[in-house]
Amino acid sequence: MEVIIQSNPQTATHVAAKIIARQIRNHPSTVLGLATGSTPLMLYQTLIEMNLDWSEVKTFNLDEYIGLPFEHPQSYYHFMWENLFGHINIRKQNVHIPDGNAKDISKICQQYEQLIKAAGGIDMQLLGIGTNGHMGFNEPTSSLASRTRIKTLTQQTCHDNARFFGNENDVPRHVITMGIGTIMEAREVLMLAFGTNKAQAVVNAVEGPVSAMNPASILQMHPVAKVCLDESAASFLEKSDYYRWVYANKPAWQEI
Ligand code: GLP
Repeated sequence: MEVIIQSNPQTATHVAAKIIARQIRNHPSTVLGLATGSTPLMLYQTLIEMNLDWSEVKTFNLDEYIGLPFEHPQSYYHFMWENLFGHINIRKQNVHIPDGNAKDISKICQQYEQLIKAAGGIDMQLLGIGTNGHMGFNEPTSSLASRTRIKTLTQQTCHDNARFFGNENDVPRHVITMGIGTIMEAREVLMLAFGTNKAQAVVNAVEGPVSAMNPASILQMHPVAKVCLDESAASFLEKSDYYRWVYANKPAWQEI
């Protein structure tokens, strides 16, 4: 795992934007896995401002609430069009977000897995992290081999996401999420985390034991995982001096 610690969310976002922009420039028909939440907002704004060519890019979003209409301001469908897709030249048919309004949820979960396979797999998966260590909506105790499926949110996540809905009771209890096994098949993963409220989840993921209790800890088993943090999110890391040392001493030929 490559841990990149930057002084603030802006500079950490800048590093992540460079990584994604390079991926799109070098591989115009790349397949990206995308995330929602407050963490990637600045990243999406930065990518929009970079004027990249998204015409051949395919995307697969991690997750979606079940039962929220597409136009609901908190649906991830709405989030993605509002904050990224509506501002870039991506083709609508190249955008994939699990359909939280489908009649047969388990069928569309299987189809989602097939669509990812048919696209050749995900080249680079962007991730945030929940305060309880979730990735996508893979809550603690999710199978580390899980595939796209329905999940029930924990009370912690409903509480955390209440800030978007105004009221905790309005947060849908059920979601569709790519599985941990699905995420682990991405060729490269890039996790972003900012703020002190993520510090515990980050230390569990980066330095804790690999455990379904901390779903993001499975990234320790991923061959190409990068984690971009601000100082606050990195504040509990025991080896932070080492991560800074590695980053500062990267040979020029070794790209971020
Ligand atoms: C949400 C999303 C995750 C996201 C996480 C953190 O529930 N399903 O994909 O990474 O929670 O969100 P935020 O970036 O707002 O802290």
